[in-house]
Amino acid sequence: MCGIFGIVTQTEQNLGPILVEAARRLTYRGYDSVGAATIKNGVIDLRKDKGRVDEVAEKYKIAEMTGQRGMIQLRWATFGVPSKENSQPHLDSEGKMVGAHNGNVVNNVELREQFMAEGMTVRSQNDGESCVHAVERYVRQGKDMVTAIRMAYDDLQGDYAFVIGLADDDKLYAIKKGSGLVVGIGEGFTCVSSDLPSILPLTRKVIRLNDGDVVTLSADEVALHAVADGSFIAREPEMITDEMSSVQKGGYAHFMLKEIHEQPAVARELLHLLKNNAELPAILGAIRNARNVYLVGCGTSYHACLMGSVYFSQLGARTTIPVLAPQFVPQYLPGANNQDVAFFVSQSGETRDVLKALDAARAVGVTCFSMANVIGSTLTRTTAAWLPLTCGYEISVPATKTFTNQVITFLYLATCLGGKDLTNLMALPELMEKTIAETDPVARELADSINPWQDCYSLGYGATYAIALEGALKLKEVTYAHCEGMLSTEFKHGPLSAVTPGFPVLFSAGKDDVDVIVSGMNEVTCREGRAIAIGAEDSRLRANATDLVTIPASDAMSTPILETIPLQLLSYYMAVGRGYDPDFPRNLSKTLTVD
Ligand code: AGP
Repeated sequence: MCGIFGIVTQTEQNLGPILVEAARRLTYRGYDSVGAATIKNGVIDLRKDKGRVDEVAEKYKIAEMTGQRGMIQLRWATFGVPSKENSQPHLDSEGKMVGAHNGNVVNNVELREQFMAEGMTVRSQNDGESCVHAVERYVRQGKDMVTAIRMAYDDLQGDYAFVIGLADDDKLYAIKKGSGLVVGIGEGFTCVSSDLPSILPLTRKVIRLNDGDVVTLSADEVALHAVADGSFIAREPEMITDEMSSVQKGGYAHFMLKEIHEQPAVARELLHLLKNNAELPAILGAIRNARNVYLVGCGTSYHACLMGSVYFSQLGARTTIPVLAPQFVPQYLPGANNQDVAFFVSQSGETRDVLKALDAARAVGVTCFSMANVIGSTLTRTTAAWLPLTCGYEISVPATKTFTNQVITFLYLATCLGGKDLTNLMALPELMEKTIAETDPVARELADSINPWQDCYSLGYGATYAIALEGALKLKEVTYAHCEGMLSTEFKHGPLSAVTPGFPVLFSAGKDDVDVIVSGMNEVTCREGRAIAIGAEDSRLRANATDLVTIPASDAMSTPILETIPLQLLSYYMAVGRGYDPDFPRNLSKTLTVD
């Protein structure tokens, strides 16, 4: 969801290649427009347009841009259509200041009117431009940049981060409020970015910013000030040791395929770390003793919550309430109090819908825990305890390995809560490996035969219900086809009318629910529809399904996790077969920091 990168160097140089590469490494966040600015001899060179990084970079020769300071921005449209004007960075009225933001300025429309009434030149509908004029307003009054940014902060409502620089200066400035922002410190340069992948190729020495930090970047130092009173903040840099290979494709055609294949390895790592996790006893105690337990997330992470809820019931005899994050406030907050526990689940740890539910829950005294993949994300810093998903970078917009590790974390917690044996769980990574090897060729073939259809269904029952929903979401997300996920028994209550000869319906068959699934499949096949079963080898499935995708035999609680894999692969191969890039589906963003 938008991404910004800015760099300050000692001397004027060819910054273009650094900016383009930084932008490429932020593309996983989702975007529709690209823009870069460099500042050279007090003159701002601004080039921007809608389109992909490589297209815009080539059209505007961004790699040739030179300067002592530079910034690049990827925009994901919220205020204003994707267009050249609405692309970022933006200039102030006189063209003497340039800036770009990430996030959402919710009072953008009112602010633009104010700026125009004050005589400023407003050129776009975009809220990033409001960040620039909000600073311009105070620079016009003679304030220095840090003071002007602090004053602008009071005017700009919402969650955002921005980077900004004056033509007649040698520094860049940035502020974080709600959206992610990290500073990098290298030899003869400093930089700032929405996320680490664009910084790590340049330096591993970083400072993670907190909300309310204003940073001044010079070529050889960074200074942090508090937005509230301007006081100096002392913060030591940290060294990042993660392997960069985890942010490269490593021989796979797409990140999505690489990340699907990484699932056994990251599951193994997760199980190892969970065994030694010092937070677990306290988390389990709180879950055991709570009056209500809410499992809160959005999209794929919500599906993990649904799965977790089944596990807590089946293995821990503990009823939990899965909640789509925006529903937490209207549906559950009025009855929530300090006897309750809420578990917030998110890959990014920055999803606005999730953070809003978290704020509301904390305000009424609910004990809040989280699981997230991005270390240092807001969720991990604002909950009583958090469990890392240990997946490394997940670049592809569709969540794959983070979903399976979310589900495995819940399975681990529920198994411990119920005092059950962990042997089956520990064997899961090996079964996942086998599942990938055995289902990859089948999924590839299936993809070709399903691709002519623009509609399909994905059904599950009991423990596989959440997996059917997740399979449908993945398929929709990357193929742009319609795929509806539902409980298999609901299909006959209406959607059955969609079935025509050959109409594809996917059935995820739970180990203990084969008879119910068979009955659903027969309702489809007797109307000449195509029932595609995913499940362990079973004579009933084999006899009744049109196609059977077999996964290795496993216990009933592990089966749904294994069934996720062929559904991910099917979506991937369908997207590739349709000529789409599954890593960056149109209109979507990896990190949704807007309402
Ligand atoms: C998953 O494939 C989707 N990209 C999306 O549904 C995602 O799970 C959702 O936006 C929540 O994101 P989070 O896990 O980072 O909170």
